[in-house]
Amino acid sequence: MAVFEAKGLSVRYGAVAANNNIDIALEQGCVHGVIGPNGAGKSTFIDALSGRRRPLSGRVLLDGEDITYRSVRWRRAHGISRSFQRTSIFASMTVGAQLAMIARRNAEPDLAGIIDTLSLGDVIDRVCGEIAYGTQRAVDLAIALIGQPRVVLLDEPCAGLVADEAGRMLQHVRDLCRACNVAALLVEHDVEGVFRTCDTVTVLDLGEVLSSGMPAQVRADPEVIRAYLGSAA
Ligand SMILES: Nc1ncnc2c1ncn2[C@@H]1O[C@H](COP(=O)(O)OP(=O)(O)OP(=O)(O)O)[C@@H](O)[C@H]1O
Ligand SMILES: [Mg+2]
Repeated sequence: MAVFEAKGLSVRYGAVAANNNIDIALEQGCVHGVIGPNGAGKSTFIDALSGRRRPLSGRVLLDGEDITYRSVRWRRAHGISRSFQRTSIFASMTVGAQLAMIARRNAEPDLAGIIDTLSLGDVIDRVCGEIAYGTQRAVDLAIALIGQPRVVLLDEPCAGLVADEAGRMLQHVRDLCRACNVAALLVEHDVEGVFRTCDTVTVLDLGEVLSSGMPAQVRADPEVIRAYLGSAA
């Protein structure tokens, strides 16, 4: 059974239908990729799933329970965490202090394990604003993984990374989800990386689901090729 679902989710900004009737189902231990052009509604979708923005209609379900109007705080306490498209770390804190603060707030029993998995041990005493951008993105991922979440919603964790850093980041996400039985939703612009890493994929376009399914099936969908992948497919 899906651990986390959106059913018919619609979000508007005034007259702009940023999300229109979106369905999605996340399974434990699986990574579900969400791709689509700029402005397709990917970040809006994460905002609605994480409780940051109220949908106009539709439902969000955790273990089948309707949590559509639960707060961000309630969702975080019940195992739903997210990362942001732009890094959300405090630039003036050390990596260690930042992670420890969030670990205390979310009763994380094994912060050392997260630090180790993401190879952050070497920068633990460095100020966040002064470490390499790729390492800052790893700190963002660490923050999302604190508190033993069951669902992580990641908004472009690879944005701004060079190709091999991005590849490593996607690998980390997949390995961690499998190892910890976490359900992940991964928004990403690197289409090849998504097709390679994700178990299932949804393509959004103009706020609507253009296609959804196994990577090979989505990649071959004529609608996706026409509207998004073009001749590069
Ligand atoms: N706060 C806002 N107020 C009004 N319109 C917004 C707001 N945020 C987003 N939009 C609009 O909603 C639509 C979806 O935006 P969203 O940021 O969700 O897209 P996205 O798929 O994440 O894009 P990107 O790939 O550039 O990050 C766009 O038309 C955008 O201009
Ligand atoms: Mg976005």
